[in-house]
Amino acid sequence: MANVVVVGSQWGDEGKGKIVDWLSERADVVVRFQGGHNAGHTLVIDGVSYKLSLLPSGVVRAGKLAIIGNGVVLDPHALIAEIDRLAEQGVKVTPDSLRIADNAALILSLHRRLDGLRENAAAPGAKIGTTQRGIGPAYEDKVGRRAIRVMDLAEWETLPGKIDRLLVHHNALLKGLGEKEVTPEEILAELEDVRERVVPYCDTVWALLEKRRRAGDRILFEGAQGALLDIDHGTYPYVTSSNTVAGQAATGSGLGPSAIDYVLGITKAYTTRVGEGPFPTEDDGEVGNFLGERGREFGTVTGRKRRCGWFDAALVRQTVKVSGINGIALTKLDVLDGLKEIKVCVGYELDGERLSFLPAGAAAQTRLTPVYETMPGWAGSTAGARSWAELPAEAVKYVRRIEELIEAPVAMLSTSPERVDTILVRDPFQD
Ligand code: GDP
Ligand code: IMO
Ligand code: MG
Repeated sequence: MANVVVVGSQWGDEGKGKIVDWLSERADVVVRFQGGHNAGHTLVIDGVSYKLSLLPSGVVRAGKLAIIGNGVVLDPHALIAEIDRLAEQGVKVTPDSLRIADNAALILSLHRRLDGLRENAAAPGAKIGTTQRGIGPAYEDKVGRRAIRVMDLAEWETLPGKIDRLLVHHNALLKGLGEKEVTPEEILAELEDVRERVVPYCDTVWALLEKRRRAGDRILFEGAQGALLDIDHGTYPYVTSSNTVAGQAATGSGLGPSAIDYVLGITKAYTTRVGEGPFPTEDDGEVGNFLGERGREFGTVTGRKRRCGWFDAALVRQTVKVSGINGIALTKLDVLDGLKEIKVCVGYELDGERLSFLPAGAAAQTRLTPVYETMPGWAGSTAGARSWAELPAEAVKYVRRIEELIEAPVAMLSTSPERVDTILVRDPFQD
């Protein structure tokens, strides 16, 4: 049985949620393996919109097991709020349908506070433009070996010592910033509030996944963010604090890499970015406005306007390699409907030299001049198309050229936010 990893191949918001929701019909288990509630995925099913941040997108389908792996940083208050919000929309999440890794690190209020304090104190050029959800500080504590983890909620008597250790670090930071220090009682009270709701979901996820894999279940791994936001491979330091590339599916879940059969890269037919950092094809003029308005490019989590620009094939070609992408799901093709001509970035120029990939340093990334190829647009519509035959010839040409440039085939095509408006070319679960 094939197991599939879905990852973003640009700067996030490529439409991963929609594609994971669609694919989860074919899966038994859907696993989040990194990030936290900085992610924002919008699914549209029969006209009803569902917004997910922390829960795997498979959760809206009955009978699927959703898993939050150890690679995720979990804000327990955000988790409960999301479960309750979904219940209001008629989606029931219970300890039978959701399991959470006991070894996942928690996001606490002090992480959110620190994230906000740092962002607000940073000079304009030094801001990252984080979602201010505490993601970075929580991963810092995990790597610093002082995090409070999900399992600690079930081992209450061990908590005071762990909280003291955490506060030695945080109170020194807060003092340095001239901020009020945190007491152990505050942290205990905040955890007491959520303990009863979270502990029933706690599980040994690596063992559970191994059992499901051996039983022949299909496992779908749902990445958040995108390859260019990866802490190692992204546009550092303007990145998130986790590995977002496909390799993380193994370490962030506890199922080894040999269990992964197919990597699907979710790729938007143009490029967007939210937050600060280099963006070679960014267009803050007419084209960018057109894409932003037609594509409704506003952040799900923070409501921020997304920066927009033409498709950057050099960048996606790079992430195809780094994530080992076997095929892509090309989304939002319909947003390009009606454009007279469409540009595709095929490489860059830097100091008179031609580059076929993004240089590693932010300074060089900011100075790149994109090299464009211009293609004819199409007069007809791709919106809502459900078969290849419904696409105008120029749209097919655009898709084919993208395949050539990024050196990966299109496995799926998405033509509207609706679940059903999807064209399957190659089933990622196919053995
Ligand atoms: P994610 O973070 O990768 O899951 O993506 P988001 O949900 O943040 O952003 C993608 C947005 O595009 C959502 O509002 C989706 O409903 C929408 N969307 C997804 N696929 C398509 C598509 O093919 N066409 C259009 N017009 N919208 C789409
Ligand atoms: P999905 O899963 C787009 C960006 C933030 C900021 C940087 C660091 O919906 O694609 P963080 O709060 O993670 O420390 O912020 O990363 N970012 C995203 N951008 N989509 C996301 O998730 C993102 N998650 C984080 O805007 O630039
Ligand atoms: Mg998103």
